Parts: sequence; structure tokens; C-alpha cells
Amino acid sequence: MSQYPGTAEPLLRRATLTGLGHYLPRNIVSNADLSQRVDTSDEWITERTGIRQRHFASPDETAGFMAAQAAREALKAAGVEAQALDAIILATSTPDQAFPATAVHVQAALGAKRAFGFDISAACSGFIFGLSVADSMIRSGQVNNVLVIGSEVYSRILNFEDRGTCVLFGDGAGAALLQARDVPRSGPGILSTHLHSDGTLADILYVDGAVGQRDKSGFLVMNGREVFRHAVNLLASAVNEALLAHDLTAKDIDWLVPHQANRRIIDGVGKKLGLPPERVVITVDAHANTSAASIPLALWQAVNDGRIKAGQLILLEALGGGLTWGSALLRL
Ligand code: ACO
Repeated sequence: MSQYPGTAEPLLRRATLTGLGHYLPRNIVSNADLSQRVDTSDEWITERTGIRQRHFASPDETAGFMAAQAAREALKAAGVEAQALDAIILATSTPDQAFPATAVHVQAALGAKRAFGFDISAACSGFIFGLSVADSMIRSGQVNNVLVIGSEVYSRILNFEDRGTCVLFGDGAGAALLQARDVPRSGPGILSTHLHSDGTLADILYVDGAVGQRDKSGFLVMNGREVFRHAVNLLASAVNEALLAHDLTAKDIDWLVPHQANRRIIDGVGKKLGLPPERVVITVDAHANTSAASIPLALWQAVNDGRIKAGQLILLEALGGGLTWGSALLRL
């Protein structure tokens, strides 16, 4: 192992986060706007979910288009050319096509000729699953520069006759550039990721249909109460798992950046962990639930408004259809 300037510590090869980008569709839909179309109210949505508005994509704002926009911003923030990319990992449940993977459309749009690309399907946990794969590929030495992107157009799979689900989701994309760096133990990078799924709970949150199933609706279906019941416990356990792996407590964490599903779930997890609300990043009010895009969008927001700073310890957590859930601990 080589030496880090100014330290005699042995160095570790880590996946470090060097650039973030985002894209939000032009069309902003407030709760009041939605209540013109759906039997609901601003009061009900705000009180139960904390959501005030969401962005809905127009036909030209596909998952691939938004992912490429977010990716360009992440590359620019890091000062890295697309040609330097080794891989593009795109987490989405709303791909442009069944195949090819939307990631290859992003590769073409960026002109990232050297990169390979593939999609990950883990619903709202997709970004954390993508981070985990990228982290392993970087640590193993297989790649040096990887984009992990979450991009979703849930407005295309919402049933606007079902007021229990259609008010909860929005569209958008977030991208993170991960680069291999040799750093001391206390240095930046992904420290660990923790992934889980439980397919026996697949029927509490799913999309009704698959390619070629013309008799299916293609809409998102959810048992909200059941999801809520599992979410707080499973998310808190994923966070505790990450803390335990590094002999840390919630006090050591500078920021919790949770999947932005619902304010009450986020507050419930924060409370269970004893994390004060001022150390939890919230964007669900402005973006609603953008599934795999919600964590990179929240990270982008908090880094860009100056809340999250270099050197800080950040815990990410998510839960989604599958059920899938997990956490990631990283130092910026
Ligand atoms: N506007 C007005 N009234 C509504 C709406 C709406 N949009 N939706 C439901 N209602 C009504 C229902 O019809 C019901 O009325 P009734 O009592 O007359 O029958 C009443 O509100 C209560 O309905 P519930 O479904 O029991 O409402 P609940 O208190 O469970 O809240 C919610 C629903 C917000 C979806 C809640 O279950 C929840 O937060 N679940 C978590 C789901 C989630 O966030 N999923 C995101 C995907 S998974 C993830 O990302 C973690």
C-alpha cells in the first residue's frame, strides 16, 4: 500500500463521492393543483405525508433523459470527462424500455465510450443497492470511475383513481460520481453498505404487470398501512446495523439522509434512533417520493445548500418494494 501525504497510516482503496448532480422536471404540481384532479386536499396530504409539491415529467423527460442531465452535472462538479467513466449503474423502476438498460442510453448521451452500463431494480432502495455494487467493484480494482444514478418517472405508473397512492410520488433524477482513492482509515469514502430483501412481502407494494401482460393495469399498488408498519422498524434496524459495524452510535453521525417517502416515516426513524431533526435531511416536502432518485436528490440538495460539508459522516437508508431495504455509511 502507498503512503498518504502527511501520514504514516497504511492506505485503503475506497469509493469516494466526488460529484453530485440532479434533474427535476419543469412541471411542478402542488397539492392544490392535484386536488383539482383527485379527491384530496392540501391539508390531508401535508398532514399525513409532509409533501407539499412534486415534479411531474413531460413525455420528453424520460428516465434516461433525466439521468443523463443529472450525470452531466455530477461529472462537471467533479471536473471529470465522460470518457473517464468505467461504469454507469442506473437504479430505476421506470426504465425507458424493458431492454436495453436505460443506463446504455445514458452512456450514449454522455459519449462515455469506455463505460459499461446496466440497470438495477430494487425500487426505492435502488440507489443504495447501486452504491453497494459500485463500492464492491471499486474496492476489487475492477473499475475506478463509476456513476451511480437514480432516475424515476413514477407519474407514468400512478393510478390517478387511487388517491391513497397518486399523491405520494414525484419524478426526478440524482447522480453520484464515485472514484477510487487510496485514503487513510479516517479519510473519505464509502465505509460499508448493508442490503436486505424479503420477497414474502412483495404483495404490499408492487407494479401490477410486466412486459406483454396486456390484461394488467401497469399501475403501482400499495397497502400503505402495511408498508408503514414495516418501514420504521426495518429502516431503524438497517441504520443500527451500519452503526454497529463501525462501533458508532447515532451521536457520531453528522447527517442522516433517508429515502424521502413520507415525513412521518422519516420522523419515526429519527426518533427511534434518537437523532435530532436538525441532523436529518428532508426534501420530501418539495420532491415527494421519487423512489430511487430520492437519496441522491436529497444529497445533492444538502451539499449544494452548504449543510453537508467535506469530512462529515453521512448515513443513508432506504426501503421500497420487494420489500428491499438497506443502509450505507460514508464520509464525504
Ligand atoms: N386524500 C384524502 N383522503 C385520503 C387520501 C387522500 N389522498 N388517501 C386516503 N384517504 C382517506 C381514506 O379513504 C380513508 O378514509 P376513510 O377513513 O373515510 O375510509 C382515510 O383517508 C385513511 O386512509 P388510510 O389509507 O388508512 O390512511 P393512512 O392514515 O394509513 O395514511 C398513507 C395513508 C399516508 C399512505 C400511510 O399509510 C403511509 O404513509 N404509508 C406509507 C406508505 C409510503 O410512504 N409508501 C411509499 C412507498 S414505500 C417507501 O418508499 C418507503
